[in-house]
Amino acid sequence: MYKSEHDESKQMSPSSKQANGEAAGSQEPSQWRPPVLETQRLRLRPLSLDDVMSIYEYAKNSENVRYTGFDRAESAKDTLEFVEHTLNIRYNERHEGEWAIELKGSPGAEMLGTIGCFFAKDDRKIVELGYILTQDHWGKGYVSEAACAVRDWAFENYDIHRLQARCVSENIGSWKIMEKIGMQCEGTLRKFFKRGDHYWDFKIYSLLREEWSQQFQRHSAQDKG
Ligand SMILES: CC(C)(COP(=O)(O)OP(=O)(O)OC[C@H]1O[C@@H](n2cnc3c(N)ncnc32)[C@H](O)[C@@H]1OP(=O)(O)O)[C@@H](O)C(=O)NCCC(=O)NCCS
Repeated sequence: MYKSEHDESKQMSPSSKQANGEAAGSQEPSQWRPPVLETQRLRLRPLSLDDVMSIYEYAKNSENVRYTGFDRAESAKDTLEFVEHTLNIRYNERHEGEWAIELKGSPGAEMLGTIGCFFAKDDRKIVELGYILTQDHWGKGYVSEAACAVRDWAFENYDIHRLQARCVSENIGSWKIMEKIGMQCEGTLRKFFKRGDHYWDFKIYSLLREEWSQQFQRHSAQDKG
């Protein structure tokens, strides 16, 4: 949920402005899409322009973005820019996985949030995980479930040696997810993350390819039959 230190345009927030002068109004159809991923309760599917209002509904809520690198969305136009950036830059140019989280069997396939990953280094050997869920559905284990699927997809589809995630120390639900998907805490960057006038402690977690292979690869293959 945080921007790459190397390229501010890699991870856009639902409310951030289009970076690097990219045209915000482009309606070009995307070509590359991440595949649909299924878990027991969830369907993770690529984003589309139809998702703008669903994302805006939670991105405008300050509580949802409190510990993220996002500003609260001021208007649906901000969210449109985020979706367009995902389709045009993160999908087509960078092939970064970003999914809408849907509850299987819910009326109208309600979208609960997004989960995704982005390259944290230009050599594309390290991927970082980020996620956001609408507040009504917190604490039901949904993001832990989705993050397992994204973890396995990232190691299976990218030539990476490390998956990482970072969060504000007070964001207990977020670092618990990191632990539940097998990541190790590497430490706390004290008063590192600035939000408004406040500097928060920031925890960093990672899972290396060899650890994933030992602990999860076999299960991942079995799950897929
Ligand atoms: C952080 C967030 C993604 C957690 O998603 P979630 O689906 O509620 O998480 P899960 O239900 O999978 O919970 C994972 C663990 O954290 C715990 N947890 C979740 N929210 C918690 C909270 N606010 N306080 C303490 N523990 C919490 C759960 O109990 C669970 O632990 P357990 O299995 O030991 O019971 C969600 O709260 C969110 O979207 N927040 C706003 C956006 C955000 O902060 N994103 C992350 C930026 S790094």
